[in-house]
Amino acid sequence: MRLARIAGTGHFVPEKVVTNNDLAAAMDTTDEWIVERTGIRERRFAEAGVSGTDLAVEASRQALTESGWEASDVQFIIFATLSPDMYFPGNGVLLQRELGLPGVGALDIRNQCTGFLYSLSAADAYIRMGMYDRILVVGAECHSAGIRMDERGRDTAVLFGDGAGAVCLEVTTDADGSRLISHYLHADGRFAEVLCVKSPGAGQKPWLTTEMVDDGSSHPYMNGREVFRHAITRFPEVIMEALDGEGLTPDQVDVVIPHQANQRITDAVTKRLGLPREKVLSNIERYGNTTAASIPIALSEAVKSGTVQRGSLVCLAAFGSGFTWASSLLRY
Ligand code: COA
Repeated sequence: MRLARIAGTGHFVPEKVVTNNDLAAAMDTTDEWIVERTGIRERRFAEAGVSGTDLAVEASRQALTESGWEASDVQFIIFATLSPDMYFPGNGVLLQRELGLPGVGALDIRNQCTGFLYSLSAADAYIRMGMYDRILVVGAECHSAGIRMDERGRDTAVLFGDGAGAVCLEVTTDADGSRLISHYLHADGRFAEVLCVKSPGAGQKPWLTTEMVDDGSSHPYMNGREVFRHAITRFPEVIMEALDGEGLTPDQVDVVIPHQANQRITDAVTKRLGLPREKVLSNIERYGNTTAASIPIALSEAVKSGTVQRGSLVCLAAFGSGFTWASSLLRY
């Protein structure tokens, strides 16, 4: 039977560290407020002119090296982001160009915080069905370009950071070995406007005006309390769905890697599942919320530190804008 396994991981974050105090110099917020409400102490911002694709190139190269692949081994690319370099075309073709792979197919996934897991599931299906043997899956964000760095942006600006993560997926026939096991994908579009960027958007004509820029609709809008309320229910639910699917209990999982939305959300999920803190990875303190990049960055860091090793049973889970929520279970 054809299955997919992660051959290697990579991640990259920009050098520039932006602390909570740096943000407090630009807007009415404090280090204490941000740390207490979110657990975030600093995040990385790309320099002007550096895009999500640029970050993805670095993460991808590292994943290729760790996998022992040449770029030319990549047969297909899936790129998850909510902060593409251009409105269109998507970042997939830009990454394909930078990696020097003309003709290789490139798919963009726009599922925000769950984008990496939706991408992983699609790549898994392509490999299982025999369409490809080797797929590069990337999540990357350049939030700093779209964050509103003034008073009116403070409720979202403090949350987000830039970064990229990547995995190389390859075919395997070892049904007990290193492999992707399952994916559970959900959405509820009734909450689409609870966390969104409305403009530019062809749901309105024209899709972007100076008034829209002035009134903030080209920046993220979020009802934080509503997001929080749903997140602390959906995260444990979708993790348990993955475990129940295999007849597992939370204590049998080696590592849970939740999308890094907010430390308070991660803590609530950890408590609900009755997991020890050290099993639930967190790097939000250093990077903030990097949306589609947060899970592959955390996974790559965990592989490099030895927290995730070959044979580890790992559950990935995410919740975010859409609303969408998802989990993937894998044996690393
Ligand atoms: N600094 C200081 N004060 C701020 C602030 C900031 N950066 N942002 C908002 N505030 C103020 C609000 O204006 C409000 O003031 P008021 O009481 O005078 O009206 C007060 O802080 C409380 O705001 P509220 O939004 O109710 O705070 P909260 O306790 O819900 O925390 C979040 C806000 C965003 C941290 C929290 O709702 C959250 O984490 N939500 C989930 C967000 C998330 O994970 N998003 C990504 C999804 S993937």
